[in-house]
Amino acid sequence: MSDTDTTEQDQQFEQPDRQRLVVLISGSGSNLQALIDAEAHDELGGEIAAVISNRGDAYGLVRAREAGIPAVVLPHHEYDSREAFDAALVKVIDRHAPDLIVLAGFMRILTPGFVRRYHGRMLNIHPSLLPAYRGLNTHARALADGVSEHGASVHFVSDELDGGPVVVQAAVHVNPDDDEATLAERVLTREHVIYPMTVRWFLQGRLNLTQDGLRLDSHPLPAGGLRLAADDVTEEDL
Ligand code: GRF
Repeated sequence: MSDTDTTEQDQQFEQPDRQRLVVLISGSGSNLQALIDAEAHDELGGEIAAVISNRGDAYGLVRAREAGIPAVVLPHHEYDSREAFDAALVKVIDRHAPDLIVLAGFMRILTPGFVRRYHGRMLNIHPSLLPAYRGLNTHARALADGVSEHGASVHFVSDELDGGPVVVQAAVHVNPDDDEATLAERVLTREHVIYPMTVRWFLQGRLNLTQDGLRLDSHPLPAGGLRLAADDVTEEDL
């Protein structure tokens, strides 16, 4: 065996396993696209192993296929119960042996067993500054309340809907002439920054959910997570 062979073998041996994530979607998949783009630029810290949608018409499936990522449709209406659907979902997810499950516009309430199975390794993004506006129609509710700031939050999933520990939030100003569409668009732009960033922290082993709460680089995160203020980032920066 030549020296070259030894070196190559050693390098192979030392190469750490690539971290893997599975992304669950139900719709447009613009957050999925942000993750795909981050991976293409080697900025995700891992590989999107599969995309799973509960809806066959989700545009995110097209995005996945165009990126060469296995895309699976699991129509929820073909299952008799939430438990049966989640059990099928677990089978598909686990086939890909992911380190992280990423919910990106996945419009399903998850069963407690599902949430427990992926405790500490399942993230969600929600279009509000949690704990404000859990649930649906967040932009309309924020506008109706006349708030001056709105935004998005990335959090670990717990059995409380949109109630798990928040890692990072990004705020946006609400303009007087905003409607639901303009506000949603401004929030989405920020989502596409904070979601790949949080996923990378997790896959690099920097972000952990411990018994004492969230830690980033071994430091406890403030309650409510890190906050990217509306003025911190301009459109030109993005
Ligand atoms: C985003 O607003 C996200 O916060 C929420 O669902 C929406 C998904 O959008 N959970 P997209 O499918 O990623 O474009």
